[in-house]
Amino acid sequence: MRILGIESSCDETALAIVEGRGERTKLVRSLVASQVAIHKKYGGVVPEVAARSHAEALPAMLDELLGKTRSRTFDAVAVTAGPGLITSLRVGVDAARALAFAWQKPLIAVNHIEGHIAANWLDSKILPQFPVLALVVSGGHTEIILVRDHGAYEMLGATRDDAAGEAFDKVAKILGLGYPGGPAVSKRAEAGNPIAIAFPRPMLASGDLDFSFSGLKTAVLQHVQNHGRRRVADICASFQAAAVDVLVKKTIIAARQVQPKTIVLAGGVAANTVLRTTLRLAVSQQLPGIQYIEPRLAYTTDNAGMIAAAGYYLSQKGRVSDWQTLEPNAQWEIGRDENRE
Ligand code: KG4
Ligand code: ZN
Repeated sequence: MRILGIESSCDETALAIVEGRGERTKLVRSLVASQVAIHKKYGGVVPEVAARSHAEALPAMLDELLGKTRSRTFDAVAVTAGPGLITSLRVGVDAARALAFAWQKPLIAVNHIEGHIAANWLDSKILPQFPVLALVVSGGHTEIILVRDHGAYEMLGATRDDAAGEAFDKVAKILGLGYPGGPAVSKRAEAGNPIAIAFPRPMLASGDLDFSFSGLKTAVLQHVQNHGRRRVADICASFQAAAVDVLVKKTIIAARQVQPKTIVLAGGVAANTVLRTTLRLAVSQQLPGIQYIEPRLAYTTDNAGMIAAAGYYLSQKGRVSDWQTLEPNAQWEIGRDENRE
């Protein structure tokens, strides 16, 4: 079964074709047009600019993708319907509705976060086994989610303020490293000492599975106000160590509680090497018998392959939307509200 995936929830316009068979999904082709260069000068994403850029980029990208793949060989269209910027989401959803109608194919509404989670199945040699525990770390989300099956989620914990990726982005801004901050901070951290500065580990002993990153960001700001930006590498390494420490320890606590068969990592911050290696090591040392899977690097940040993959698994469960009525939902959360439309 061939799925066309469309992603436009934030500042990446992405299209992909994924082939699904049984439990396996394989990426056939993927296009990602990043708007980073456009938003860079503002230090963050400007919603109106993002929506216009999606609308400008999408037709030519569709041409490029479909020109080489014979458009009518698709079995379904999957699109990110939320969460995200409403104006950006609408561009993708409207395109998907039009294509589903024109081709008379099923339309599948995918939650952006479930797409990030599905990236762990895409082209993976070893498939995650349910129940799966997912640590979701992106620019807008930091969540621990129990995945009982494709499309069946339970939110166990979430950030109370900033998301992990947002903290990386804000720290980069404080240090003058530009946007987006995650890759810049982790790059500078390579030359730094992770125990040079004792930044706080917020919520580590909170007794629940929630996170908070705004205090950590403030601690970095105070450090810079007091000591300047002289030791940028040490600041980056110490901040990263504090963030990773909390993320990994809370995931281990969650896993002890719910005993999943597999732990997966998801979202843009899953590109972070220190997070990947620390979580991998912690699971193998502290949770023998639990499998650990991480997405391929190319599938960590926003892409449409993950959306098409999630769409494939949802379609297998008969979770199809109506092209006439599907609306984007900027606030759509999985695991808290299972009403999909
Ligand atoms: O999932 P994503 O592409 O978009 C959202 O859904 O938000 O995640 C983007 C976030 C940004 O905050 C970016 O700074 C962060 O992922 N990120 C990283 C790294 N690469 C991207 N954070 C830490 N280390 C990285 N290597
Ligand atoms: Zn994302």
